[in-house]
Amino acid sequence: MLENKRLLTIASAMVCLLTAWAEKNELPLIQNVMAYEYLSLNGEWNYIVDVQEEGYYDYRMNPTRWGFFQNAKPQKPEDLIEYDFDKSPTMKIPSDWNTQDERLFFYEGTVWFYKKFRVESLAFRENRALLYFGAVNYDAHVYVNGQHVGHHVGGFTPFNYDVTDLLKESDNNVIVKVDNKRHAEDVPTQIFDWWNYGGITRDVKLVKIPAVYLEDYNISLTPNSSPVNERKKNANSKTREISFSAKLNKAEAGQQVTVFIPELKIEKTFTTDAEGKVNSESIKVKSEKCQLWSPENPKLYQVKISVGTNTISDEIGLRTIETHDKQILLNGKPIFLKGISIHNEKTNGGGRANSIEDARTLLSWAKELGCNFVRLAHYPHHEEMVREAEKMGILVWSEIPVYWTIAWKNPKTYENAKNQLTDMIARDHNRANVIIWSIANETPHSPERDTFLGNLAQYARSLDSTRLISMAMEVTGASNYVNRLNDNMNKYVDVVSFNQYIGWYRDVNDAPKMKWEIPYNKPVIISEFGGGARYGLHGPKNQRWTEEFQENLYIENCAMLDKIDGLAGTTPWILKDFRSPRRVLPGVQDYYNRKGLFSDKGEKKKAFYVLKKWYEGK
Ligand code: GCU
Repeated sequence: MLENKRLLTIASAMVCLLTAWAEKNELPLIQNVMAYEYLSLNGEWNYIVDVQEEGYYDYRMNPTRWGFFQNAKPQKPEDLIEYDFDKSPTMKIPSDWNTQDERLFFYEGTVWFYKKFRVESLAFRENRALLYFGAVNYDAHVYVNGQHVGHHVGGFTPFNYDVTDLLKESDNNVIVKVDNKRHAEDVPTQIFDWWNYGGITRDVKLVKIPAVYLEDYNISLTPNSSPVNERKKNANSKTREISFSAKLNKAEAGQQVTVFIPELKIEKTFTTDAEGKVNSESIKVKSEKCQLWSPENPKLYQVKISVGTNTISDEIGLRTIETHDKQILLNGKPIFLKGISIHNEKTNGGGRANSIEDARTLLSWAKELGCNFVRLAHYPHHEEMVREAEKMGILVWSEIPVYWTIAWKNPKTYENAKNQLTDMIARDHNRANVIIWSIANETPHSPERDTFLGNLAQYARSLDSTRLISMAMEVTGASNYVNRLNDNMNKYVDVVSFNQYIGWYRDVNDAPKMKWEIPYNKPVIISEFGGGARYGLHGPKNQRWTEEFQENLYIENCAMLDKIDGLAGTTPWILKDFRSPRRVLPGVQDYYNRKGLFSDKGEKKKAFYVLKKWYEGK
C-alpha cells in the first residue's frame, strides 16, 4: 500500500512538472503571424480515431506515459505496439474530420493527428520556432517529438508554442490529440445550433521569429475625444492623430521601434520602456493626406514596423467608430448597418470554412445582397474572413460562443470565455473593419448570467476601449402586440442588439401590429430575424418551408423594422443554409438549418431579392 502511494505521489508530481513545463512553451498570441516567414504544416496528416482514448489513458483511466504521442515503433520482434501513425489513413489539414471521412460525419470524440516535417529550410539557429494553430475544435493536446508542449481549449481562436529547443536536424513530428466532445461547462455549452465540426480546422505553421520580436502592436486613428456636438468646429482640423503602441516579447528597455507609413511620409522611432513597451504614442498626420477607411473607400495603408534589424509589414485602415444617442457614427457620420449573419461554413456542401477562397465566396454573396456589414456568428471566424472583408469594405461584428445556457456559476467556464475573448481581440484589434465585439447570444436572464456577462463586458472594454461592445439579447417583455426589450445587460453595451422571429416562431400576420419598446438611448441592431425555406419548394405564402413563405416573412419584417425608433442596422438570419444536428425534418431540413437566403448549394431564394431591394432603399 505504502509503495503504491509513493508511486502515485511521484506520478502526480511528474504530471505537475510536465504541465508547468508545458505552459512554459505556450506564448501569448503573436500579432500578425502572416507577416513572418514560415513552413506550412498544412497537407496530409495521418490520423487515428480513438473512441476510448486508448492513446492517452491506461485501462485504469490514468494518463499513460506510453501514449500515442510517443509515436513508438517496435525495436524487437516481440515488442507489443498497438498503433502505427505511418500506416494509418491520412486527411487533408486544415479541415474538419466530419466532411473528410464519412465514418466521422456525426463523430464526437478523440482523433489523433500526426505530421512529420524537416526544418533545414528555416535555419532556426539564431531565430525561434513558433508552432502556430489557426484553430483546433475543441480540446487539443499538442506534442512535438514526443514532448507535451501545451493544452488548448476553445474551438475558434489561434494559439502558439515556442518549440525551438525540441526540434531536431532530422525528422521531426507534431502530434495533436483533438477531442470535440461537448460538455455543459464548455464554451459553447452542450447544445448549439450548428454542426460540431471537429479537428484541426485552420492553418498550422512553423513560424520563424527573431529572438526579440513584436509580440503585439496597435495602430489606429485616435478617436476624436471632443463631444460630438463640438466637432463641427474642428471638423476641418488640419491634423489627425494616429495612436501607436507596441509590446516586445521581452521586458527590454531601450529597444528602438520604428513605424513607417510611406504613403503618409511617416517615419517615427520610439524607445521601449523597462517592460519592453511603447505606450500609446501619437503620430500627427495632415488631415487632407489621410484617407479614412470606409465601405465606400476601404483604404489600407502599407505599414512597416522595425525592431532592431527585423521589419514586419501590415495593412492598416484608419477610421473612427462611436455612438451618439441612437446613431452609430463611422468617421463622425451616421451609418445604417446593412448586414447579414454568416456561419463559418464552406459553400459547397458544408465543412469548416478556412481559406481565402471560402471567405471571398461568402463575402461576395453578402456584397451581392447590398451589405456593408456582416455578423460573423457565433464564434470568431478564420482570419482571412476578417482581412478579406476589410479589403472589400465590409464592417464586421465579431463574437465569442457564449451561446444559450452557459454554466454561469462555473469559474472555469468564465475563464474559458475570457480566454476566447482575449484571443479574438488579440488577433483582430488592428482590423479597421471590426467595429463590434459581441460577448454573447440569446442568454437566459439570471443574477449569475448578469455577473458573468457584466464582468466580461468590462473586461472586453479594458482590452479595447476603441470599439463598440454588444451582445444578441432576446426580447422577453412581449405582451399582445408590444415587444419590450428588458435586459439588465443594456448598461454594459454600446449597441442594444436583439433577435426577434416574428413570422417564424410567431404569426407573420402580427408583424404590422407590433410595437417595439426599447427604453435605452442607444443605437439598436436587430441581430437576427428570418425564417426557413427549402430552395425550389413553392406554394402559397402561408405554407411553411416554401420560398413564398420566407419571401412574405421578409416583406413583413422589413416593413416592421422601418417603424423601429433608433434602428441602426440589422443582420438577418442568415446568408446560407448551414448544417445543424437540431434540424432533422426529412426532405426539408435533412440536418440543415434552412433559414439561409442562399441554399447550401449557393442558389438564391426569393427572399434574397426582398432584402436586396430593402437595402437599396437604405
Ligand atoms: C437563434 C440562434 C441561432 C439559430 C436561430 C434559429 O436565434 O441565435 O443560432 O440558428 O435562432 O432558430 O435558426
